[in-house]
Formats: sequence, C-alpha cells, structure tokens
Amino acid sequence: MSGPTLLGRRSECETLDQLLTSARKGQGRVLVLRGEAGIGKSALLDYTAAQATNSTVVRVLGVESEQELAYAGLHQLCAPYLDRYEQLPVPQRDALGTAFGLSAGEQPNLFLIGLAVLTLLADVAEEKPLVCLVDDAQWLDRMSALILAFVARRLVAERIVLVFATRDTAGDLADLPELVVPGLGDVDARTLLDSVVKGPVDSRVRDRIVAETHGNPLALLELPKALEICTRAAVPPMLSRAATRRCGFFSSTMRDNMPNRTGRPGW
Ligand SMILES: Nc1ncnc2c1ncn2[C@@H]1O[C@H](COP(=O)(O)OP(=O)(O)OP(=O)(O)O)[C@@H](O)[C@H]1O
Ligand SMILES: [Mg+2]
Repeated sequence: MSGPTLLGRRSECETLDQLLTSARKGQGRVLVLRGEAGIGKSALLDYTAAQATNSTVVRVLGVESEQELAYAGLHQLCAPYLDRYEQLPVPQRDALGTAFGLSAGEQPNLFLIGLAVLTLLADVAEEKPLVCLVDDAQWLDRMSALILAFVARRLVAERIVLVFATRDTAGDLADLPELVVPGLGDVDARTLLDSVVKGPVDSRVRDRIVAETHGNPLALLELPKALEICTRAAVPPMLSRAATRRCGFFSSTMRDNMPNRTGRPGW
C-alpha cells in the first residue's frame, strides 16, 4: 500500500479502506469527513485516492469564489464524462444539458439532474469502481451540494464511493454518515512538531504548543515557523509584543517564552 504517511489516523484510514472495499464489492458508500481548518481532512482524501487502486478517482474542489455559480461543483464532477451524456434517458439528458449550458431550456428540474448524475456515475462505475472525492465542500454552490447529497443518499448497488470533506457542522450534507476528524493525540502531535522544529526546544514550550494547538496538524506544522519569526524580533520586548500579536492565538505561548531584558522567559 502506498500513500501519504499520516500520524495518528489508523481508525480513520481503516474506515476509508472499508468504504473502498465495499465499493469494490458493489455496495455504494458515502462518508462526510468533518473538522476544523487544518485538522487533516484533505490529507485523508489524499490517502483515499492513494488506496483507490484499480479504480477511477475523480476529485472536486469547492471554490469560495464560485459559490454563487449554480452547478459549478457538479460540473467538475461530471465534466470528464460528458462524452456519455447523449446516452442518458432523454429527460435526464435535457435536464443535465440545460444545467451545464449544453442545450437551451427552462430552469431544469433538480430531481432529473440528480437522476442524470446518478445514471452517469453508475455508467462510469460499470468499468471500474468510481471514487469521488469532494474537498472543501463548505464552499460548494448550493445546487451542487443539494444534488450531490441526493446522489449520495441513493448509492446502493453501485460501485461508487463518495467522500466529502467539509468544515461545516451543518448544511445540505448533514444527514449523511459522517466522521468527525479529531486533533492528533499528544504522542503523535509531539512527533509531528519534532519533525519541523530545528534545534532543541524547551520542554515547557513543546508542551504548551501541543496543548494550545489541540493536536491540529496544520497548527503544529506552522507554529514553529511563526515562533521563529517572532523570536527573531524578540529583543527589544516591545517589538516582541507586536510580533506575537501577529501570531494570533499562539501569542500567549510566545509571550511566556520570549526572552525579556534579563534573558529569562516572559516579560
Ligand atoms: N495525520 C497527519 N499526519 C501528518 N501530517 C498531517 C496529518 N494530517 C494533516 N497533516 C498535514 O497538516 C496540514 C493540514 O492538513 P489538511 O490540509 O489536510 O487540513 P484540512 O482539514 O484539509 O484543512 P482545510 O479545512 O483548511 O482544508 C497538511 O500539511 C497535511 O499534510
Ligand atoms: Mg483541506
């Protein structure tokens, strides 16, 4: 098995492995990965893509600036397969074609678009299992979110896996099976921190960083850089305060460990 090395994500990876196994057996599955920014949702999607051997993987990315563009997210999902669109049942083809501007028509029926997407994806999955990974789903346009949720609720006998990653705790995906991605445990958080810290670190600083980041991998990776910038500006203390303010929620750690005029931590 290849793929990114993830610390402390054994159970999450097992869950994702099971989804892929189910899909290979012809049981369609869906999962919503939920969690705060930087907690490792995209990393888990990357893991899923890496494990999806002998499968077709399609990735969709919610884009904040496209939130007002109806069907923009759905278009990312379907675009690679639009050569099959003519084979859809006529009402579904017309609905999807109108949504994507391929044919003229009135505002398309959402139910028919949902069916069209389901038919299209099921057709693709006839050849190989299909793994659809939707990242930053909190930024999907509303129509795409509604239709993807509709499709997700109807995955039964198709060889399709649909995994969403979102920061949202509610929204159109709320009723789908979910996995809340937690912070890393202390041991893994320390390991990740140590992987980016250059040189020795005071154990109290280390403990404080681990505690304040709540095991958020992005924070653990970025904090040492911020700390370095701040400590470069550490003397005189007034400059240190300005620098630590720029470091946001980590400022208390910085302040307490920044050398003052006496060279001791704190000021
Ligand atoms: N379990 C882990 N082990 C090691 N590194 C990790 C782990 N999880 C995430 N990372 C790293 O932490 C950083 C943030 O992870 P990621 O981008 O997956 O977060 P995210 O939840 O997708 O955030 P966002 O909501 O902003 O998209 C990345 O550099 C990623 O490689
Ligand atoms: Mg992400």
